[in-house]
Amino acid sequence: MKRFLLAYAVITGLISGSAVQARTLDEIKAAGTIIVATEGAYAPFNYFQGAKLSGFEVELAEAMVKKMGLKLEWKALSFDALLAGLRQDRWDMVMASFGVTDERAKAVLFTSPYYCSGGVIVSKDAAIKDAASLTGKTVAVQTGSTYMENVKKLAGVKEVKNFPQDTDARSALVAGRVDAWVSDRFVVKSATESNPGLGLKTGDYLFVERIAAAVKKGNAPLAAAVDKALAEVMADGTYKTISEKFLKEDIRCK
Ligand code: ARG
Repeated sequence: MKRFLLAYAVITGLISGSAVQARTLDEIKAAGTIIVATEGAYAPFNYFQGAKLSGFEVELAEAMVKKMGLKLEWKALSFDALLAGLRQDRWDMVMASFGVTDERAKAVLFTSPYYCSGGVIVSKDAAIKDAASLTGKTVAVQTGSTYMENVKKLAGVKEVKNFPQDTDARSALVAGRVDAWVSDRFVVKSATESNPGLGLKTGDYLFVERIAAAVKKGNAPLAAAVDKALAEVMADGTYKTISEKFLKEDIRCK
């Protein structure tokens, strides 16, 4: 009996294990809906306006998915859970301003980039403006972001403080608990423009990056379909309209 139960457990484990597969493009098409995960706390790219998910990459995803002839179901989760959930087949795609890095490309498959940007240094003190001036300083960054990775590479930095959300990292700077905040140039631009009273000063780029959607590793047909839809919205003016609505300029990679 014991042996039978063990065999049974092994077999059901194998069956359920093999059932956990990334949905193929055909399966997504048959279902008619693609599930896309984002964060929802990263204006102007993905954020909540009341109960509604909004932002550049939210509208861009909706336009692309429409080109694919599908409906879009959004999931909003904490940033550092997004890529892991893709690997666990909890959703089909992630669009949350992920920069393409070699490390991430080992774990997921990136589509073509949909915008180009970079991490900038922000401080209340105009003297803190480049990598060298971060020596001996405390810097706030979002956990798991490329900002964290790149600040950690700077030997002279006194302390890297991680925050679950980028807005928390910004608040730490505003409250004077850190000397600098490193974040996306467009996120910083939008935050400083809408809150001029905060006295935040934008310094130099620390690094540049290409931002892309991610699908499960091996799901090349889905990535190809997304790339095709992206090329279409870039060609027909849709991309430009959405980009200018949220960023006041066209931010595609040149
Ligand atoms: N571009 C940065 C990265 O790739 C930060 C992305 C943050 N995205 C977000 N939804 N909070 O790590």
